[in-house]
Amino acid sequence: MHCAISEILYLQGFGTRRVCAGLIQQGRVTVNGQPCTDPFAEFCMDGLAFTVQGQPWVAHAKAYLMLHKPMGTECSKKPSTWPSIYTLLPAPLRQRPVKGGQPGVQPVGRLDQDTTGLLLLSDDGAFLHRMTSPKHHVPKVYEVSTKHPVDSRQVARLIEGVVLDDDPKPVRAAACESTGECALRLTLTEGKYHQVKRMVAAVGNRVETLHRSRIGGLALPDDLAPGQWRWLGPEDLELLRA
Ligand code: URA
Repeated sequence: MHCAISEILYLQGFGTRRVCAGLIQQGRVTVNGQPCTDPFAEFCMDGLAFTVQGQPWVAHAKAYLMLHKPMGTECSKKPSTWPSIYTLLPAPLRQRPVKGGQPGVQPVGRLDQDTTGLLLLSDDGAFLHRMTSPKHHVPKVYEVSTKHPVDSRQVARLIEGVVLDDDPKPVRAAACESTGECALRLTLTEGKYHQVKRMVAAVGNRVETLHRSRIGGLALPDDLAPGQWRWLGPEDLELLRA
């Protein structure tokens, strides 16, 4: 998509159209390493490398990213107690305009404040819907440490299905294995409120720590430290579809 640099800055979340035009006219923007002071100069948006007040950016028509959610953060934009995960993202990702929706990227489902691991975010409504809809059965893998030793009966019950207080229909783990004396790997294809904690409680144990290691075919990379984020590339999106 070809458009004016001021429109590109606006679509990427650098402020209102007027603010973006001002930044360009004031000489605060470089494009492909060259200063650009004409707000109407046209470029192809996707993949365009520019800087705004020294901040490097690569334009993405739609935003798809992964965050290694750290302990003690809330997935809400307006958190009640803990800092928001949005404080870990650069301002343009929180502000980019979304047609007919809230500005900025939204998380693909939510993790509890004390849950760590892989969190996807996007501003693409169709992608958010596909990844969260129970119809699509996208598997999510959780590494659980438990208060009490895990026994084979608990593993079997988690696979057979347990009844949670708000729903008479049993919820099942798509897969479950013991990974240590007090450790479980649990795969779920739906995302009910506190689902892992409630399922583990329903079989007579208790979650001590909870970490999401994988969504679909996409694993949290070892080199993405807690609190860090990165863009998803086409190969990552392919793994999510697989
Ligand atoms: N299940 C939970 O209990 N908590 C989470 O954060 C995710 C799944």
